[in-house]
Amino acid sequence: MRVLGIESTAHTLGIGVVEGDGKVLSSARQTYIPEEGGILPSESADFLASKFEEVLQESLDVSGCSFNDIDGIAFSQGPGLGPCLRVGAAAARYLALKHKKPLIGVNHCIAHIEIAKVTTGAKDPVILYVSGGNSQVIAYAEGRYRVFGETLDIAVGNCLDAFSRVLGLQHPGGPKIEKLAAKGKNYIELPYVVKGMDLSFSGLYSDLKRKKLSGQYSDEDLCYSFQETAFAMLTEATERAMAHLDKEEVLATGGVAANSRLQNMLEIMAKERGAKYYGCPREHCGDNGAMIAWAGLLMLKSNDTLDIKNSKINPKFRTDDVDVTWL
Ligand code: ATP
Ligand code: FE2
Repeated sequence: MRVLGIESTAHTLGIGVVEGDGKVLSSARQTYIPEEGGILPSESADFLASKFEEVLQESLDVSGCSFNDIDGIAFSQGPGLGPCLRVGAAAARYLALKHKKPLIGVNHCIAHIEIAKVTTGAKDPVILYVSGGNSQVIAYAEGRYRVFGETLDIAVGNCLDAFSRVLGLQHPGGPKIEKLAAKGKNYIELPYVVKGMDLSFSGLYSDLKRKKLSGQYSDEDLCYSFQETAFAMLTEATERAMAHLDKEEVLATGGVAANSRLQNMLEIMAKERGAKYYGCPREHCGDNGAMIAWAGLLMLKSNDTLDIKNSKINPKFRTDDVDVTWL
């Protein structure tokens, strides 16, 4: 069985093809990078639409498949930016109708989780899902991926991107902050806010901005301290969930999970508990089509498909809204 997956929740148009056991045959993508400031939904949507043909062709070429070899068309149904989601959804409906294939509506967050599970071999982990729009501590329980803790305000990736703009850096900020942080030496005290398994990053952002504007600190030290503080918060909340749920595996996924220092902290925490850490491979951390294809394939196997008339996008689709039919 093979599924083609289309990702278009925000900045990236990803189209991937995945086979039966989770083998990624292709994962083509193009990412919209705003010239300045954050992502403008309508501009990003225009970019995604303009790249559709090229990315689809690349994905089919690399996978060596034609539509005859594909058993289903999956797309990101949400959460995400409405104009961007509509680009992928419209294309998926068209391809499903044209090629007479089942249509599968995938929750983007669950796709981040499932691609990380299949590529690492994690079985029943506590999942730290960290990206531009989400920061959640998740575990599977009784038919759903349940959210045990999450940010009460902005996501950690959003905090990284927003602070990088204060530093005058282009979107996305995470990788640039990671590079600067590696050169930082002095830890600067910053707001550390963990409430049970929930987190808050907006105070951290305001304090970082204030400290940057004061001119008293180097960018390297600010970035270093930012990472140490934010990632320790995430690690603490994740560890609490592991203890509470008595789980022996931890899995990191989402764009921010590409960060080496975050991976390193989670690995140390897991080791100290006698647990096992699994990090999603870097190429599958950020938004991509292969993750949508794989989640779509799992859903297709359990006949979890959509009628065209029920295939509306859901910009506020939550991780715990989905009945997991495939586990
Ligand atoms: P979601 O809808 O899942 O919230 P998203 O639109 O934020 O997805 P992702 O590609 O999953 O997209 O994540 C992008 C985020 O990951 C951005 O905030 C970016 O700065 C961050 N990021 C990417 N690489 C790194 C890195 N090396 N270190 C820290 N953050 C990173
Ligand atoms: Fe994402």
